[in-house]
Amino acid sequence: MRTQVGIIGAGPAGLVLSHLLHLHGIESVVLEARTRQYVQERVRAGVLEQNTVDLLKGAGVGERMMREGLVHHGIELRFQGEGHRIDFNALTGGRTITIYAQAEVVKDLIDARLAARGAILFEAADVSLHELEGEQPVIRFHTGDEAGQLSCDFVAGCDGFHGICRSSIPSAVLNEYERAYPFAWLGILAEVPPSSDELVYAYHDRGFALMSMRSPRLSRLYLQCAPDESIDDWPDARIWQELRSRLARSGWSLSEGPILQKGISGMRSSVLEPMQYGRLFLAGDAAHIVPPTGAKGLNLAVADVRVLAAAIAEFYRSGSRELLDGYSQTCLRRVWKVQRFSWWMTSMLHRFDSDTAFDRRRQIGELDYVTSSRAAAQSLAENYVGLPME
Ligand code: APR
Ligand code: PHB
Repeated sequence: MRTQVGIIGAGPAGLVLSHLLHLHGIESVVLEARTRQYVQERVRAGVLEQNTVDLLKGAGVGERMMREGLVHHGIELRFQGEGHRIDFNALTGGRTITIYAQAEVVKDLIDARLAARGAILFEAADVSLHELEGEQPVIRFHTGDEAGQLSCDFVAGCDGFHGICRSSIPSAVLNEYERAYPFAWLGILAEVPPSSDELVYAYHDRGFALMSMRSPRLSRLYLQCAPDESIDDWPDARIWQELRSRLARSGWSLSEGPILQKGISGMRSSVLEPMQYGRLFLAGDAAHIVPPTGAKGLNLAVADVRVLAAAIAEFYRSGSRELLDGYSQTCLRRVWKVQRFSWWMTSMLHRFDSDTAFDRRRQIGELDYVTSSRAAAQSLAENYVGLPME
């Protein structure tokens, strides 16, 4: 097989890239390890920043998102039993976020790619990359019993943190910068209308909690837990009790309902530098991981592939490699600003066992500052709705 761009991974990064390249008349083949059903049903993130919404709309794949997505104009920070709204309209000139599940974005993109006769090979196994230093890299893989080989001009590594692309870069040229957090998030999907119209982030002595949503009838909630906890130790009643305690606010109560899905996920910050090697370009979780507190994982993946699609298109249009050679540097400027914001939100809102009483009062002081100073609130808001694309 031959194509212009071989893309490993059919998550948001791989699929948005494939679609953007298609709009430039550039062919790609997406190789995905899992089944179509699996990638379309994975419960992942749910917050689209303004840039992502604008990109999907501009790329002609935002119709259902506009119809079904929930546009939000603010979030609430809750601490010491009180709620404080961060007003995006007042602080960012009307930029917003849209609640629309990552799985729905993936569905819309797969539908769009297949409708345009794009090539997505599901259940591609044993993917390996070759000749990355040359001008015709080769991707080898299996589908069923068939051995396949795809030669291309470029390879996009969009296969997430546990994929094979990042390890295809020689360790001698690769630097990983990471931070582990001493806690995890227990997340639930519950069939109950959200108890607030907007997201609620709560700082509490018992630990962080977040009330989010997927639709007017589906709630998505998280609570901080120890990194080595087992979901078996968290019966539904215990989950609801913790959420009620941590999210408590005078004049407000948390509605409960059947829990449809629950799981525990670890938290880390990680960045790989550089994000490219020869004809291989990493994008999304394959290159960086952010703690979910800032709701940035999906949005940063989309920001990467926006840069990569433009760079590849420029190469085919004019033969210039300038944007391609600057890909990693361009993306990393945004990556590190988003890492900072995600780390800051996580540090401000979570309980660290190593913290002293001083640290806990300092956190309250930070929350008090962010919710009482326009300058501080504006800094949170402009990052949350998404910094302007450079
Ligand atoms: N071969 C082929 N496909 C692979 C391989 C492999 N060796 N390894 C992983 N994949 C696939 C996964 O099955 C997944 O569908 O690559 C895809 C990677 O998608 P994501 O993990 O969603 O990563 P990305 O597209 O960068 O999107 C980042 O996803 O995980 C969330 O929180 C993250 O919201 C963020 C978003
Ligand atoms: C979600 O709805 O899944 C969500 C929302 C905000 C976050 C993280 C996750 O910060």
